[in-house]
Amino acid sequence: MDESGASSPENIIIFDTTLRDGEQSPGAALNIDEKLEIARTLQEMGVDILEAGFPISSPGDFRAVQRISEEIRNCTICGLTRANRKDIEVAAEALKDAARPRIHTGLGVSDVHIKYKLRTTREGALEMGVDAVRYAKRFVEDVQYYTEDAGRADPEYLYRVLEAVIAAGATVVNIPDTTGYSSPEEFGGLIRGILDNVPNIDKAVVSVHCHNDLGMATANTLAGVRNGARQVEVTVNGIGERAGNTSLEEVVMAIRTRSDLFGLTTRIDTRRIYPVSRLVSELTGIPVQPNKAIVGANAFAHSSGIHQDGVLKERTTYEIINPRDVGVPDSEIVLSARSGRAGLRHRLAELGYTLDQEQFEKVYGRFLTVADKKKTVDTRDLEAIIADEVQVFFEETYHLEHVQISCGDHSIPTATVRIRGPNGKVACDADHGTGPVDAVYRAINRVIGEPNELIEFSVQAVTEGIDAVGRVTIRIQAEEPVKENGWERRVFSGRGSDMDIVVASAKAYMFALNRLVAARREAQQGEGN
Ligand code: KIV
Ligand code: ZN
Repeated sequence: MDESGASSPENIIIFDTTLRDGEQSPGAALNIDEKLEIARTLQEMGVDILEAGFPISSPGDFRAVQRISEEIRNCTICGLTRANRKDIEVAAEALKDAARPRIHTGLGVSDVHIKYKLRTTREGALEMGVDAVRYAKRFVEDVQYYTEDAGRADPEYLYRVLEAVIAAGATVVNIPDTTGYSSPEEFGGLIRGILDNVPNIDKAVVSVHCHNDLGMATANTLAGVRNGARQVEVTVNGIGERAGNTSLEEVVMAIRTRSDLFGLTTRIDTRRIYPVSRLVSELTGIPVQPNKAIVGANAFAHSSGIHQDGVLKERTTYEIINPRDVGVPDSEIVLSARSGRAGLRHRLAELGYTLDQEQFEKVYGRFLTVADKKKTVDTRDLEAIIADEVQVFFEETYHLEHVQISCGDHSIPTATVRIRGPNGKVACDADHGTGPVDAVYRAINRVIGEPNELIEFSVQAVTEGIDAVGRVTIRIQAEEPVKENGWERRVFSGRGSDMDIVVASAKAYMFALNRLVAARREAQQGEGN
């Protein structure tokens, strides 16, 4: 309870199995260093328990569990075993340096597993499970027991197994829907039944572990939580055997976004969700589907005109999560044939173009023609459209009259520029840099003095051959004052062509700077009105 007497929301324990069940995804093999890197980021993100591997399965897995146990101090480190002594001894050895070790042992509880996989009887399987827990307790205090294929088991038998393994010392009981067979109602009911029918269930934490074969892993996990489970077993991006496991990001963000419904919390720093998702995708080589909830490329992208218009007026019209809360820098307005004027106007403003109505309509007409031919219209397409349709939309405040560069393998790149400014005043200055382009940009900055950051620079050959014309496209970013809201970052693009790419770079920079200066002047005039 807090000072006001209100009780704080109960915590849901996050058990991450990206490095064990996740790594069982076809083709996802990770080496030890990669596993360690993922383990570090999971620790920073606030994961409570990290299932680091299945130590007996290979020397590599054993070593990974050992290294993670040595290094990761703020998570419980868990190693998987089958219900036999050899597996348990090897896991205990791999976990011996962990600050908080946990052995995760168990075996099947459905008749199909008992009969065909384990080739034993219900009683035989129950005895093996109890023996395994007792044996694991010789090495560690914290023993988690999994009842494989619980989703298809006879609940009465499951209750008996759980009662027996808890009596033998299991601290956590894991209820897996191994084959992703259950529906949310059934799975929630199963967890409720366990809490109501297993007499000693208060001595253990109930964990849920769902697979996604019917696309219901997250729904089943949350149904489990609604019915009393307090640990959830998840993987980053939902990777795992076959159709995968419950995804960490979906469960964590559902609990957070719908705190009104769940009344629960987790220790996860949600701003790390997107970077961790990228890391896992890169290291496993498993791409994230674009429409994946929370971390897919389209999760915060708005494509239709109606949605773009709504989101630009008020983000929450179509977004239930602020992208920044999951570490995604911003929502995205995707320009396509379905986009409307609001989306296009917004993107043009982001790029620093302020067009009058007539110019805008011309650009919009041409944009629709391009959009009909291409799936999406990107920045470069827009710049080409503008270059063709409208000449210059801003007054050129500064004009580059002359640029001279000196560089070579034994000299410091140095540039001298002469720039004609407002009222025809000419200024000359020079500077050196890490390369010729850097030297030119520094020299220009000395004359114009408009703070900004170069965020993109690309060179393209427009024509072929040794005398090719090079086209440089750049984007700079600057803080701009906005009425009421203080400051906002705006991006200004610029392009320049020349046979000398350093001169082309200088022209592109002048282009972007003039646009920045024009926007600032316009903002000041707006304030004066
Ligand atoms: O899906 C499953 O049943 C498992 C167990 C080994 C926990 O991954
Ligand atoms: Zn599993």
